[in-house]
Parts: sequence; structure tokens; C-alpha cells
Amino acid sequence: SMDGIQAGKKAAAIEAVNNHIKDNYIVGIGSGTTVVSAVDRIAERVKEEKLKLVCIPTSFQAKQLIIDNNLVLGTLEQYPELDVAIDGADEVDIDLVCIKGGGGCLTQEKIIAGCARELILIADARKDVETLGTTWTKGVPIEVVGMAYKPVLLQIMKTLGGTAQLRMASKKMGPVVTDNGNFIIDWIFDKPGNWKDINTTLQLIPGVVETGLFVNMAKYAYFGQPDGSVGVKH
Ligand code: A5P
Repeated sequence: SMDGIQAGKKAAAIEAVNNHIKDNYIVGIGSGTTVVSAVDRIAERVKEEKLKLVCIPTSFQAKQLIIDNNLVLGTLEQYPELDVAIDGADEVDIDLVCIKGGGGCLTQEKIIAGCARELILIADARKDVETLGTTWTKGVPIEVVGMAYKPVLLQIMKTLGGTAQLRMASKKMGPVVTDNGNFIIDWIFDKPGNWKDINTTLQLIPGVVETGLFVNMAKYAYFGQPDGSVGVKH
């Protein structure tokens, strides 16, 4: 049920924040619905334990979460090295390779993750899969420079197969525009492959800004069940 999924997200978020946030940390704040529970728990711990943290956002949404919870907002320019980043995912495989960007945020998320000593993923247990594409059917989100979207999606289909399409806000409103002013292509792959190679192939296409494939980035993944129990992978 929706309640069970929400309970799982919340349990995973709380467990991850309890285990990985320490005093004086520079913390990357991810995007999406699961991260909301993580920021709630961070704010609670800051208050109760008087932790000194600086939070670096991965999106407009994350920035708002930090501000609304009265946490200290920082930038990568001030803090180019992060202790930890906490973020959601759309799906995570056994090697902790994950798909991100279902909500349109991926480039800033990957930059922040790359600057952090540890990337911690939090998700409900449905997203814990053996191979990508098991429960997540919307494919790999790819951020692309607007004027290049057509050749990029054609190139993706030609070299990697599957179906690639421009993500639309609606027919009337036109394409989804990211926090960076770019478009998103959703690539529905035919079957799982070598994600490291696929990621590299995608990144080499002119016009591609970044992909939602996070390979060798996550150190831990917390998966919450509807009953509130949490499993950890690492
Ligand atoms: C945002 O675009 C994503 O990368 C999110 O981290 C991902 O989609 C997970 O979001 P939820 O926590 O809302 O499932």
C-alpha cells in the first residue's frame, strides 16, 4: 500500500541518518520524496544533539528542504569536499549500481555524490533488485542540452537499442526543464548490460550532460520495509 511504501522510505531514511551523520559533517542533501524524511531526521538530530552541520543541496527542492528546516545551507564553492551524501534512487541492483533522475534531478546529484566520501542511498524495499529494470520501467533518465535532444535520442537508440524519448511536462507546457535549464531523455533499455560501459557510451554522445546511471558511487543502500524494518547493503 502507499502507507507501507511511505513507512519503508521513512524507516530507511531514519536509519541512514542515525548511522551516517556525525557532528561537524558537510552533508549532501539529495532529491525526491524519500529524502524529505531524511532531512526531517537530520533537523531533529541537529536540535536534540546540537550537531553542527552544513548541508549542500542537489536541487532546487533540496535547497528548499534545507531552508525550511532551518539547517545551514552551503555551496560546493565553500565546501568542495563532503563527508557524506544522502539520496534516494529509482532502483538499485546487487552491485549498488542505481538509476536516478526519475524526479528530474541527476546531474547535481551525481556531482555532489562525486564530492562526498560516502554516498548513502535510501529507498523503500521495492527498489532493491538484482538487475536494473525489474520494477522500474521508466528507463534511464539522461540530461541533455535542449538543442541536441533529437540527435542524442536517435544516437542512443542506434548504438544501444531500446526506446529513447524526450520527457514532457505536458503537451501544452512542453519538455521538462531541469534545475540546470536542460531537457531529460528517458531511455528504456531492452535488457540490462554492462552499466559502466553503457554509462560511458552515453556520456560520450555530444549534447549529453550527465546520465542517471550511478556506477561505483554508492557505498551503502538502506531499504525500508512496510513494517519499518530496514535492510542494509554495502
Ligand atoms: C530525483 O530526480 C531522483 O534522483 C530521486 O533521488 C529518485 O527519483 C528517488 O526519488 P524518490 O525518493 O521520490 O523515490
